[in-house]
Amino acid sequence: MATAQHDGLIQKARKLEEQALQELQALSSTRHCEEFRVKYLGRKGQLAQLLDGLQALAPDQRAEAGRLLNALKEMLTAKLEQRLAEFAHIEKEARLRAEALDVTLPGRRQKLGSLHLITQVTKELEDIFVRLGFEVVSGPEIETDYYNFEALNIPKDHPARDDWDSFYLDGFDDLLLRTHTSPVQIRVMQQRRPPVKVVCSGKCFRRDATDATHSPVFHQIEMLWVDKGINFAHLKGTILAFLEEFYGKGFEARFVGDYFPFTEPSIQVHVRRKGTEKWLEILGAGMVDPAVLQEVDYDPEEYTGFAFGLGVERMAMLKYGVDDIRTFYQNDMRFLEAF
Ligand code: DAH
Repeated sequence: MATAQHDGLIQKARKLEEQALQELQALSSTRHCEEFRVKYLGRKGQLAQLLDGLQALAPDQRAEAGRLLNALKEMLTAKLEQRLAEFAHIEKEARLRAEALDVTLPGRRQKLGSLHLITQVTKELEDIFVRLGFEVVSGPEIETDYYNFEALNIPKDHPARDDWDSFYLDGFDDLLLRTHTSPVQIRVMQQRRPPVKVVCSGKCFRRDATDATHSPVFHQIEMLWVDKGINFAHLKGTILAFLEEFYGKGFEARFVGDYFPFTEPSIQVHVRRKGTEKWLEILGAGMVDPAVLQEVDYDPEEYTGFAFGLGVERMAMLKYGVDDIRTFYQNDMRFLEAF
């Protein structure tokens, strides 16, 4: 009885050996090797099942059959290792070939970036003012209430504050994102004696509802000229000169009365393309209010000046036919690449 079991086991082992050797030959990848390992050499594989059968054998037969099965296991394991090594080599070669770079291929041209239209227009305007004898200065985007309002003759509770709906900084009563570039006028005058002839460009921030001509972030250029004998004719002449330089002869400007606490008299300037209907307000201006000059210890009896603040987006919209201010900030490549 035991002998029949023994013979059966040996026969199964031989069959297993024959089949496994055939399959080993047919393996074609590392993944197939793993499947083979599980099928024959795994914990619940065919060889393990045969080893379980040893228990039913008589001790001497068990030892002999055990040696045979273990030798079979070692032989299959070694052959499997060999095949694995072959595939590892082949697969590595294939991967290297697939990942190879042909360094002789021609390069692909990378498009160069260009300056944003707002930056271009700002530079163009600054250049015009430099040619007119102005110096370019700058000031901070986070301002104190004093520079943004008080020093510009806009005390707390002044109704004109409603014209500049402001972003205050959380936790700082006194700090806000500047609503205009006019505070730079004060900073410059505090540090210099006249004559002062400067321009300053930069970002401004207002809690305005967004529409085709309003954006919570926008750009201004501020201009200030203070000296002995400056009068309204200088203001008018300077503004008309730079507008013509920027727009050429195809545009016209008109001056309209306005009110700003820091200028007296105050005006706004509208520009339109000749032959069209619609005027666009592009800047506010005026003769610097004596109260502002006094604030920085300039004697208003001795010095006078004029100033203006222009909207860079609006200047650009008119010149380049952009009809919605939001277009500047949407980063649509077709728009950006057009300029
Ligand atoms: N700061 C004003 C504004 O943003 C514009 C302005 C008006 C600036 C008159 C000036 C000025 O320098 O003189 O609404």
